[in-house]
Amino acid sequence: MLFATILVFISFIAYKIYQKTKVPEGLEDVPTISYFGIFKSMFYNEGPDKRWEDSRQVLEKYGIGKFWFHGEWYVVTTDLELIKDVFAKTDLYPKLSLEEAFPGSLMTSYFGTNVVFSNGDVWKRHRFITNPAFKSIPMQLFDDITVKLLKVIEKVDNEPIEVKDLMDRLILDVLGRIAFKFDFNYLEDPTNVLVTTYKEAIAEVNNPLYFLFPFIENIPYFYRTEARKKVAKIHDLFSGLIEERRKSMETDELSKKIDNNSADLLECMINASKNPKYHMSDEEMRYNLSTFMIAGHETTATALTTVLYVLATHKDVQSKVREELLRVLGDNLIPTIEQQKELKYMNMVLHENLRLYPPIHQLPRRENAEIIKFRNHTFLLNTPILVNIYGVHHSPKYWKDPEEFIPERFENENDEKRDQNTWLPFGGGSRICLGNTVTLIEERVMLCTILRKYEVSLPADSIHKDKLQLDKFNDSFTGLKALHLIFKRTTN
Ligand code: HEM
Repeated sequence: MLFATILVFISFIAYKIYQKTKVPEGLEDVPTISYFGIFKSMFYNEGPDKRWEDSRQVLEKYGIGKFWFHGEWYVVTTDLELIKDVFAKTDLYPKLSLEEAFPGSLMTSYFGTNVVFSNGDVWKRHRFITNPAFKSIPMQLFDDITVKLLKVIEKVDNEPIEVKDLMDRLILDVLGRIAFKFDFNYLEDPTNVLVTTYKEAIAEVNNPLYFLFPFIENIPYFYRTEARKKVAKIHDLFSGLIEERRKSMETDELSKKIDNNSADLLECMINASKNPKYHMSDEEMRYNLSTFMIAGHETTATALTTVLYVLATHKDVQSKVREELLRVLGDNLIPTIEQQKELKYMNMVLHENLRLYPPIHQLPRRENAEIIKFRNHTFLLNTPILVNIYGVHHSPKYWKDPEEFIPERFENENDEKRDQNTWLPFGGGSRICLGNTVTLIEERVMLCTILRKYEVSLPADSIHKDKLQLDKFNDSFTGLKALHLIFKRTTN
């Protein structure tokens, strides 16, 4: 009897495992990427370069692969035809909302319903309301922040300084000012309580343990009371900002700003909160503030860090960028929007940097809302689909010598020849990044500020000497191991 019970039990478990791991109909012929490679890279927090190593054989040959994770079969792709379809048909390939992906999690309670993770009419409304805030930014906001940046660099003149941390501090301050006229003052005071609480809350939200084993958050022991308190503090900060700004904005003043496109993110949302058609609730505003901060902060800080690295390791390129900016800017310290268009070589460098080190290496998961036929495969409803940006950017199918840093790829005549979907650091289609203009403005301003006065070098004993050491910030964002660079004053 005991033997029969054990046999039934084992058969039941075996059947459950079979059910969970069985390849869905239609995906049988999609080549498989090793589960162990994926798990290992998640577990060890490996960067997108290592993940690409694990999947490149499959993706280069077929442009599409499948892997099993958390009880589901995912499709991952570098195929331009499929990627164009994902970009063009947002309703056919909606994103998985955070509520669906991580129900009851800390991450969901922090980001809630927002422009990045919503779909359909909710997304259209959020995008319509927030889009105008990032069309142009007042350039004078950079006046004193660049002075503050130079002061920090001056203090450590000619000694190595950790650059990811510095860029983190810089961009948090810039973004706070752009999005809601708030000064985090992180550059001047890295220990201020507000910022350390913000950073701790973000670290908790992105704790890799809960990405790997999301179910544990439902176990009372892992409820994360302390972490939830930190998140609540940041929510309170954002709620306070909304309340304060609402009180201080006279209706006339707000309407004028909306009319002449000078309203910031918070003002655009407050304006919408009064509009019955494009209404936005206080809770949605708060979620969007949390979301924009992470979408615009980590990404731009990473891009600036990696571009400083490529300039430090390609001194000839650095000299050319410096010569160009001195010629175009003259005595001007901050480039005007017109001058930024003339910084053609710098723009090529920025593009090539985003190709080589895309700050978002994989688009957030999509799921097809209808059955899709792709080549001889069938994606049944709700198949998880991942667009591998890093893979597209590093594929020899699309780029000659993809591992090399060659800004000239983006020279007009070369650039026009390539399929435009081979460069997708900002995604594409109607869900393209809302901050793609602003982030490039920030990068240009900061490069002009630094390179006018300093030469950037990599210390001889750097761990990044042969290759930039990437790691993982979260499932989509590229992370970096600490990177020290030397800033040596070249002029007074
Ligand atoms: C180098 C810097 C940046 C990179 C590489 C980047 C990358 C991306 C990518 C790949 C997407 C597409 C996501 C998708 O299709 O699922 C995206 C969307 C988005 N980004 Fe960025 N981003 C950057 C900077 C910013 C900045 C500065 C902001 C705003 C402050 C911002 C706000 C957004 C928002 C709101 C979306 C969602 C758009 C939508 O779904 O309609 N990003 N970004």
